[in-house]
Amino acid sequence: MALRQVRIMGDPVLEKKCREVKEVTPKIRELIEDMLDTMYEAQGVGLAAPQVGVLRRIVVIDVGEGPYVMINPVIEATEGSQTGSEGCLSLPGQAGTVTRPNYVKVRAFDENMDEFVLEGTELLARAICHECDHLEGIMYVSKVEGDLYDTDPDLIDAEDSEE
Ligand code: NI
Repeated sequence: MALRQVRIMGDPVLEKKCREVKEVTPKIRELIEDMLDTMYEAQGVGLAAPQVGVLRRIVVIDVGEGPYVMINPVIEATEGSQTGSEGCLSLPGQAGTVTRPNYVKVRAFDENMDEFVLEGTELLARAICHECDHLEGIMYVSKVEGDLYDTDPDLIDAEDSEE
């Protein structure tokens, strides 16, 4: 198991557009394994390669139904909308309200470069949109309605105790 350092908002790597993956080299395979390890260790539901400093079009997602590895993902269809809380490992302890499609159809390649289509609703749809945004250099904070709020209980306790 190898963990990678998650880049925090303000790091310029999070604002850049990622390049397509043409071939799953041993290095890319290792990156994907490390991204999964890093996501699970941080208890996130998704992670995009730029969040570990690599400008490639790769995302991993697990909303509780096992991991999806998506290489060069393209969202082909969306339907409906959902408004809810969203956070990001690149902005720990914070969340905000974001409206996303309630249904997403995405086409991508797996770690063997086999093409697949995945349909998701609710949290999975939200995660797909959020992670695909990362590949364009977009953080969810640019889509937040209202203010960000604290989610980290330790942080909230610390703030309370200062009063
Ligand atoms: Ni994120």
